[in-house]
Amino acid sequence: MSNRTFTMIKPDAVANGHIGGILNMINAAGFRIVAMKMTQLSAAKAGEFYAVHKERPFYGELVEFMSSGHIVAAILEKENAVEDFRKLIGATNPANAEEGTIRKKYAESIGRNAVHGSDSDENAAIEGDFFFSGLEKF
Ligand code: CMP
Repeated sequence: MSNRTFTMIKPDAVANGHIGGILNMINAAGFRIVAMKMTQLSAAKAGEFYAVHKERPFYGELVEFMSSGHIVAAILEKENAVEDFRKLIGATNPANAEEGTIRKKYAESIGRNAVHGSDSDENAAIEGDFFFSGLEKF
């Protein structure tokens, strides 16, 4: 069990003005922001980030959406970070997300679902390294 996870605030939530609201929920849940940046992914970079989903029917749509606007990438720290953060964001499909979760409050649909959260300690490390150099991770 690692104490870090990786998140992105996705283009839908950034465009709708929800960066502040989402960061407040993250802080209120006890996560420390270790590193953070706002950037925009090229389609090539989004494709690389989501390469594990290459064979899925929604891959093209996912890459197009994730490169369509600004995102906020961050590394978060807390005991049991990966699991606790997935609880905080709620189900991938906001129709199934529980009350009090980030996706229940801010997600529009299964694709435009406001936030990403790593699904394992291994992926949290890989995804954090995708966006941040060692010098940026305090
Ligand atoms: P995330 O957990 O960030 O990583 C994979 C993403 O694929 C997931 O969030 C969803 O936003 C997206 N996704 C999953 N299923 C679908 C789907 N059926 N249609 C569109 N996007 C999807």
